[in-house]
Amino acid sequence: MQTQRYKFPQGFLWGAATASFQIEGAGAEDGKGRSVWDWFCEQPGAIKDGSDGRVACDHYHRLDADLDLMANLGLKTYRFSIAWPRIQADGTGPANPKGLAFYDRLVDGLLKRGIVPNATLNHWDHPMALEEAGGWRGRDIVKRFEDYAGIMGKALGDRVGVWATHNEPSVISGLGHQLGIHAPGRKDSEQVVHQVIHHLLMAHGAGIRALRSSVTKKDAQLGIVLCPPPIIPYQETEAHFAAAEKAWRWENDWWVEPMLKGSYPAEVLAAHAAAGSAPVIEPGDLALIQQPIDYLGVNMYFPRMTEPGPAPRGFHFRKFSEENEPLTSMGWEVYAPALRCLLHNFHRRYKLPLYITENGCSVAEDHVGADGACHDPRRIDYLGKHLAAAAQALAEGVDLRGYYQWSLMDNFEWSFGYTQRFGITHVDYKTLARTPKDSFKWYAQVIRENGFDGPADEGKRSKFEKG
Ligand code: FCB
Repeated sequence: MQTQRYKFPQGFLWGAATASFQIEGAGAEDGKGRSVWDWFCEQPGAIKDGSDGRVACDHYHRLDADLDLMANLGLKTYRFSIAWPRIQADGTGPANPKGLAFYDRLVDGLLKRGIVPNATLNHWDHPMALEEAGGWRGRDIVKRFEDYAGIMGKALGDRVGVWATHNEPSVISGLGHQLGIHAPGRKDSEQVVHQVIHHLLMAHGAGIRALRSSVTKKDAQLGIVLCPPPIIPYQETEAHFAAAEKAWRWENDWWVEPMLKGSYPAEVLAAHAAAGSAPVIEPGDLALIQQPIDYLGVNMYFPRMTEPGPAPRGFHFRKFSEENEPLTSMGWEVYAPALRCLLHNFHRRYKLPLYITENGCSVAEDHVGADGACHDPRRIDYLGKHLAAAAQALAEGVDLRGYYQWSLMDNFEWSFGYTQRFGITHVDYKTLARTPKDSFKWYAQVIRENGFDGPADEGKRSKFEKG
């Protein structure tokens, strides 16, 4: 493999990410209420290994040791999420002081170690009581979310550097409400799925509004974390570019344009209306959704290849097997140039600073061997390729501010339970011992040097990247 040296700008934010339900444990402690994921884990067959988040990585009780782990890694920033039911057990009323105290300690512990806190308000674990009242299907949750955002802005807004309202809201609507394989495990109609999306977007706007008026840290960045399909046209032909462009409208503009322009892409909304599945939009909703934001966060794991398809969408996604890269343990395809293409498109179309808020690779077989180490060359290979793509986009002018590796440690991977391992730190779920993997040491060096020797740029660029 040809290599080249990649350098990152001074002040580039090197991070790692986790989420409350996936690592905290302490599922019913210190006044924490039940979340929709606590409930979902109890549903027969919902979780591959029948597990749940009651203990997870026990991060709640191992906070100080985990903070030291982050310091050893040399992190400049750490992305975590707040468990809403720890703050408001049932999603309403005054904040639970013990819940606030935990995140207070986390944020102070980060700052003490020179690590910028990046907080996500909704990484999927909203209070079960709110779900019972209709969850994201109803409008009430928007007001509830605004209150919760205000509580958190007031409590941590003097110290948190980066805020996100939601993590991957399209996964809530898609896997949670359409396919039923994530909480709340529903197979709702298309119309209800679109209504869920509309309410998630409204809650985003309301959340930003609440944070704007409560956050006091001057340079705090407010935004949202999305998982936009990194669209790559199958062939470099006009018909395939047109299909990719349609995919962009349906899958990405559909989420971003309401936030930035205060409108859904007209032709997509019209197609939903023709199918009888448009969301009900009340006066003022779109104005609420369109709050100024400071950045967009993109999570990227695998490419999405498009080719022409039937109306009204005009595209469909297809397999990307040509590259013959082995799939990850999740069965996900690996194609890093899609990240470069995605970053360019976000930069050109939305003109906001960007963060890669998640990127990583599961290797289910990761284990600590007789030598006491966990060798994970596949992860290093994956991360190197994607960081090279990020560095290329940066060098080409994309305003990328930081990168968060998923994940600081192995954790509860939603419906896969503990059968997948995304961590750069191995977690033994019997003893809860943490063992930094080879990739941890590799990433620590990347951070230290603010650069690395990675795979040389092969110039694999789709014309779709340039617009
Ligand atoms: C993302 C989620 C994150 C984790 C990774 C593997 O979709 O945001 O919680 O599960 O996938």
